[in-house]
Amino acid sequence: MLKLHDVIKTYAGKSEVTALAGINLTVTAGEMVAIMGPSGSGKSTLLNLLGGLDVPTSGQVVVGGKDLARESEKGRSLFRRSKVSYIFQAYHLMPTLKVSQNVALPLHLAGVPAVEITRKVAQVLKEVGLEGRANHLPDELSGGERQRVAIARALVTDAPLLLADEPTGNLDTARGEEILNLLRAIHRERGTTIVIVTHDHNAASVCERLIKLRDGRVEGDGSPVGGGR
Ligand SMILES: Nc1ncnc2c1ncn2[C@@H]1O[C@H](COP(=O)(O)OP(=O)(O)O)[C@@H](O)[C@H]1O
Ligand SMILES: [Mg+2]
Repeated sequence: MLKLHDVIKTYAGKSEVTALAGINLTVTAGEMVAIMGPSGSGKSTLLNLLGGLDVPTSGQVVVGGKDLARESEKGRSLFRRSKVSYIFQAYHLMPTLKVSQNVALPLHLAGVPAVEITRKVAQVLKEVGLEGRANHLPDELSGGERQRVAIARALVTDAPLLLADEPTGNLDTARGEEILNLLRAIHRERGTTIVIVTHDHNAASVCERLIKLRDGRVEGDGSPVGGGR
């Protein structure tokens, strides 16, 4: 599903920063993987490459058989719309749109017929336990509920790859755990490949595999203690 080969990413600027210093990594379809590492170790950069949001300075980023480093901007944009979905620490919901409209957005952009959108939105809101909140605005929801909306929006396109950057970072322990359990259930029931960047040891422990980054390199790769539950 995912294959990184000798991936280097530097950011130009006053002084050049090497965010990724040669990453080799394979993730099989259907895996649920945690990525941990100190702040600045390259976690978000890695996720952005996997999601086709950015391209490496050198090396290959093969996702679903396509080398994203060699795709055109148009090719990567198509990839982002159909093959991958993202959730973020800060939810990134549209504040003026109701829950159902936020969740519907990716389908609107894809030109899906209205009847189908209504059906899919109801289905994913049920899946994340928010069927009673469809007509609320994001402001009217708790942090945990907002992250559920973001997860519903990520599920609505049935993308095979879900990338999560610090998804529990703004939540208390109990709410964070609910979100992790939800991701775990999605992984189990849908077979979605999930990559979670996190500081949270609970997050790593619900995953089958833990990859540790340090200074833009893979420092460890294996089974987390208490993982795969
Ligand atoms: N757009 C950017 N421009 C310049 N430097 C960046 C940019 N994004 C990230 N960096 C630098 O790259 C390194 C890795 O960043 P990042 O991937 O965000 O780390 P993490 O998510 O692990 O905290 C850091 O030194 C950071 O300052
Ligand atoms: Mg980060």
